[in-house]
Amino acid sequence: KTYKIAVIPGDGIGKEVMPEALRALSAVCQRFDILLEMTHIDWASCDYYTQHGTMMPDDWKTRLADMDAILFGAVGWPDSVPDHISLWGSLLQFRREFDQYINLRPVRLFEGVPCPLAGRKAGDIDFLVVRENTEGEYTNLGGRIFAGTEREVVIQESVFTRLGTDRVLKYAFELAKQRSRKHLTLATKSNGIAISMPWWDERADEVATGYPDVQLDKQHIDILSARFVLQPDRFDVVVASNLFGDILSDLGPACTGTIGLAPSANLNPEGRFPSLFEPVHGSAPDIYGRNIANPVAMIWSAALMLKFLGETAAHDALLHAIETVLVQGPRTPDLGGQASTTDMGVAIAQLI
Ligand code: NAI
Ligand code: MG
Repeated sequence: KTYKIAVIPGDGIGKEVMPEALRALSAVCQRFDILLEMTHIDWASCDYYTQHGTMMPDDWKTRLADMDAILFGAVGWPDSVPDHISLWGSLLQFRREFDQYINLRPVRLFEGVPCPLAGRKAGDIDFLVVRENTEGEYTNLGGRIFAGTEREVVIQESVFTRLGTDRVLKYAFELAKQRSRKHLTLATKSNGIAISMPWWDERADEVATGYPDVQLDKQHIDILSARFVLQPDRFDVVVASNLFGDILSDLGPACTGTIGLAPSANLNPEGRFPSLFEPVHGSAPDIYGRNIANPVAMIWSAALMLKFLGETAAHDALLHAIETVLVQGPRTPDLGGQASTTDMGVAIAQLI
């Protein structure tokens, strides 16, 4: 089977980990007889912005619309472009214009990875964060008045729609229903954010009536964060608004050792638009150029892409290779090793 894939490395370590994902994909696609027709793209990067004054060409949407998926590295180079410009000019455009309303982020503690939480072993932590990805707290609605004076007032609205909230809740319930524990945690804050969050609770209760076999557990975001650290084994699927989900999905991977392992899928589940697969981490300017970034988050994201395209066996083979290398090494410095990005990528590709 042939799939059209847009490959966008972006900035910083995005440019270092992407080649390792392509290496692993090449190996696994050869083994499973999958053809990927790749389009390599240098825009959606701060280099492009520096040259053109914009993050992407005007016709970016038509250029990407007939792709089966987008594989994305990371965007952001704060020394040359402010983060809100680089992010809103690229990734957030993709998420919104392509209606990638699910941001799925697996959190798993692997064998061979030192866990920062005392007494946890592989298998204890294995859950999915489902983040709403198109609305909520991330809006451009608001403004400043009396700017720069003592009377300065700043307003930024959150926008939740019934369509947007119900569809992410339904997706999370469906996911929980397919898993053995059938447990769904809702991140809420209905005690403090007294309009939108009680409404989220209500929407969850209503959607829950369609899923009698799934157990719904509502937790305020503050204690929920604490429990990610103290009792990570109690989570199975966690559903959250855009902001809460963003925070939880960095905290989760941090509890499993390193953000360098965490993948994500930005999904338009109906397939009307291409979905986008990217590591959770950013461009890591502090380590860029040394070839020491952990490539696993990127490679696992490529595996999620294969799974979403229906190539489950290829996904499983990739994940197995990742698991094996995490046990045997080589390991990058964030995993306590001394290997390079390339060493680890080559080892994973060779196992396939
Ligand atoms: P970051 O994720 O780039 O880095 C945070 C810390 O984790 C750094 O110390 C970094 O060295 C480390 N790290 C990240 N990925 C790693 C890997 N694969 N292996 C080993 N260590 C790794 O987040 P930060 O520093 O807040 O942001 C840097 C830039 O990235 C900013 O411009 C930001 O806007 C952008 N960013 C982009 C994202 C995206 O493209 N989806 C997501 C997060 C940040
Ligand atoms: Mg984030």
